[in-house]
Amino acid sequence: MAKMQFRAMSETDVGAVSLIEQQIYEFPWSPQNFIDSIRAGYEAHCLWHDYSLLGYLVVMRVVDECHLLNLSVRADMQGKGLGKRLLQWAIDWAQSCHMKGMLLEVRPSNTGAQRLYETTGFKLMGVRKHYYPAAQGREDALVLFKPFHTQGE
Ligand SMILES: CC(C)(COP(=O)(O)OP(=O)(O)OC[C@H]1O[C@@H](n2cnc3c(N)ncnc32)[C@H](O)[C@@H]1OP(=O)(O)O)[C@@H](O)C(=O)NCCC(=O)NCCS
Repeated sequence: MAKMQFRAMSETDVGAVSLIEQQIYEFPWSPQNFIDSIRAGYEAHCLWHDYSLLGYLVVMRVVDECHLLNLSVRADMQGKGLGKRLLQWAIDWAQSCHMKGMLLEVRPSNTGAQRLYETTGFKLMGVRKHYYPAAQGREDALVLFKPFHTQGE
């Protein structure tokens, strides 16, 4: 049986990525957002099972910290531990680059994602008011941060 594999996202993957993106978000990233991320050198990775795309993530490096910009699992594969696996991959990558921590934003209404981040050690740092588009007006963003403890700290 084929194993799951992480691979760097290429521009030819963006069609498959965007199909998932449109299915799982009310306000999805555009295909161009993914292309721009790849061209900017952000860490964009996909999780595949054979030729089937299961999920993906995009992380931006900012000096010695990183910012998780997108973490997504295909609708029919959610709740099976893949989100946690993708997130752990990003954390391992960031730690291997000696970064000091990871930052992300999440909607207050997205309690499922918040549960994942809490169980992975992210803590609430603050709130960005009116950050996200919403069906009615705007929604705040919760800003979460996970510090990485290096040896000796
Ligand atoms: C959020 C998302 C990435 C999580 O991935 P997933 O594969 O569904 O989650 P996992 O199966 O790895 O679950 C990881 C943990 O989060 C919890 N969790 C995940 N989704 C949950 C939900 N909808 N409700 C309650 N808990 C949830 C699980 O219980 C699990 O906790 P545990 O380890 O203590 O059992 C995925 O559901 C997704 O793509 N959602 C739509 C896009 C999105 O919201 N992305 C995040 C934007 S900030």
